[in-house]
Amino acid sequence: MNKRVSAPSTDHNQSVTDQKSVVSPTSGNGIAIQIFPDSDLASRAAADEIAALIRSRASEQRCCVLGLATGSTPVRVYQELVRQHQDEGLSLENVITFNLDEYLPMAPDAQQSYVRFMQQNLFNHVDIPAQNIHIPDGTIATEDVPNYCRDYEDRIIRAGGIDLQLLGIGRTGHIGFNEPGSTADSITRMVTLDPVTRADAANDFGGIEKVPSHAITMGVRTILQSRRIRLLAFGDHKASIVQRTIEGEVSTDIPATYLQSHSDVQFLLDPDAAALTSPTAFANEL
Ligand code: PGA
Repeated sequence: MNKRVSAPSTDHNQSVTDQKSVVSPTSGNGIAIQIFPDSDLASRAAADEIAALIRSRASEQRCCVLGLATGSTPVRVYQELVRQHQDEGLSLENVITFNLDEYLPMAPDAQQSYVRFMQQNLFNHVDIPAQNIHIPDGTIATEDVPNYCRDYEDRIIRAGGIDLQLLGIGRTGHIGFNEPGSTADSITRMVTLDPVTRADAANDFGGIEKVPSHAITMGVRTILQSRRIRLLAFGDHKASIVQRTIEGEVSTDIPATYLQSHSDVQFLLDPDAAALTSPTAFANEL
């Protein structure tokens, strides 16, 4: 996780939609792009969409299945959902969650654990039933990983599939921990982390040598089967990979380019993350 979280916005009365500087229906491939004046407004827009989906499903007495991400990027989305739960009566009782990934090995109470991250940033503060929460288990023995991963996939299917998948993007172009080389038909599995990803996590672990070399991640296919995909990217360190993801050929070298084939995918960006993307990529249908 990179630590690039700026202070959250405290003005919750400001309309997010009023603040969008650029909205594009499509980038020319399947990716719609929204550029917000800052990452707080982008995060609030994502949270508002998630909250609306939760409420709409609840009004039909249905569950809302969310695919969730960790890292610094989605933190303010979770803060806003917690705020809406506390201040506006948003209930998450009908929510079922599947997290993208977890380091392997990783104890759930360890400082860098994504279980701990999710508890601290979201689950401890809302009313999602504990049995509705799914995060890949970082304590699983290597020989049990294949069965465990098949069961994770089955649980997603039994829940009815993911309604909305929240994503960040790594500098390698990974989504989840689908590093370069991941194929479009990959499912939940054990992966080897890219050296760039391990370098980006080094601060969290107190040195790159302490970052686990492996992880469990949902696959590219698992992600692409979600009904909606919302990818958030903030900061100039994401500008190059955002540009290559939107404008480049679909390639296993940049797994995020597989998103181009999805029918309902949006990138929510701040100006820094969008800085290298050609205006024609998001202006052609304005
Ligand atoms: P970040 O990580 O949100 O900490 O930048 C994103 C990712 O690696 O997917």
